[in-house]
Amino acid sequence: MRQHAQPIADSLVREVAKPAKQSLDEVVRSADLIDYTAEEGARALGAGELLTSDSFPGQTRNKLCLVSKVPLGVVLAIPPFNYPVNLAASKLAPALMAGNAVVLKPPSQGVVAGAHMMQCFAKAGLPKGLVNMGSEIGDYLTLHPLVSCISFTGGDTGIAIARRAGMVPLQMELGGKDVCIVCSDADLDLAAKSILKGGFSFSGQRCTAVKLVLVVKEVADALAAKVAAGVAKLTVGDPKDDVDITPVISDSSADFIEGLVEDARAKGAKFLTPYRREGNLIWPTLLDHVTPEMRIAWEEPFGPVVPIMRVDSVDQAVAHCNANNLALQGCVFTRDVNRAIAISDAMETGTVQINAAPARGPDHFPFQGFRDSGIGSQGIRNSLAMMVKIKSTVINLDKDSYARG
Ligand code: G3H
Repeated sequence: MRQHAQPIADSLVREVAKPAKQSLDEVVRSADLIDYTAEEGARALGAGELLTSDSFPGQTRNKLCLVSKVPLGVVLAIPPFNYPVNLAASKLAPALMAGNAVVLKPPSQGVVAGAHMMQCFAKAGLPKGLVNMGSEIGDYLTLHPLVSCISFTGGDTGIAIARRAGMVPLQMELGGKDVCIVCSDADLDLAAKSILKGGFSFSGQRCTAVKLVLVVKEVADALAAKVAAGVAKLTVGDPKDDVDITPVISDSSADFIEGLVEDARAKGAKFLTPYRREGNLIWPTLLDHVTPEMRIAWEEPFGPVVPIMRVDSVDQAVAHCNANNLALQGCVFTRDVNRAIAISDAMETGTVQINAAPARGPDHFPFQGFRDSGIGSQGIRNSLAMMVKIKSTVINLDKDSYARG
């Protein structure tokens, strides 16, 4: 993949309008992820356990239990359009290391990049038939009796898949409404920089993007001014030119984003940057004085729109965060580490970043969503554990001869 990184990255630019440098980064990150998975898997999956029966009350020592990890069978991997390569690799690599076969269902936009990646695997000597790429989704793949695990990243479709999956183990990541809580003692320059990067990279089309800023009133004006100054400098246009903001994935996605923006406008949000749209290219939009009555206070735009809600207290911010069914990540900015830990403990989300924007990487860290944001934990180590089942073999020694021995 490293040798063929550029053509794969070029596909990402063309298919999903990911800026050129981020596209190349995605490919390199995926190669690194595969390397790490191979190393981690060799050790983690090779380790078994031996239990002896006499450690349980009333038992003698004649039973020995060998605990091993065995493959699940066929893993169905369904990555999303925003990381067609990386979130395919993050499913494929642990599945293969654990001894499974894989059916990859690439996103419709991102399928060419996925096919390039598959060619790399073939060139690297992957046995034929071990990974197959299919274009059919719906019931055929997700309900197929030979599928032993579904690893899915995407939107609401995941909930429907989960409801029908029955006994099939699931690894699901279904997005988030990642909040950024800014306390009165925060480093506002750092917070503003992180909101800018976290909210607008890949035009906000990341499940871990900053999707709502909850700032205490004392510092709200200062923070809003700093973020607005940064937004004004973002470049907009063609992903080939490596600009910051590129077209969102589809017209329907742009329509949805516009619906949230117009709902906020109608309910009194203040626009710190003018809203502008040409086709599915939306200029970066910063909204202030967002209130809980607005849809954008709860729904994820998956686009270059960052709403700011001013709160009376951090408790109010935490309560808003916990009232949302989407609970992937969140972040808190404060100079007081004790306070940061207390806030993190109170936030019911899969991950809380202290003094940095939400992010999945580094890729060996656990990554999980609470409530409607997901099932199971990802990250290389947890994905390896997810891709096996535990098998016990119990050796029953003959009690008498064992005792004599
Ligand atoms: O869009 C969902 C991804 O898992 C986010 O990954 O934090 O590396 O952008 P990222």
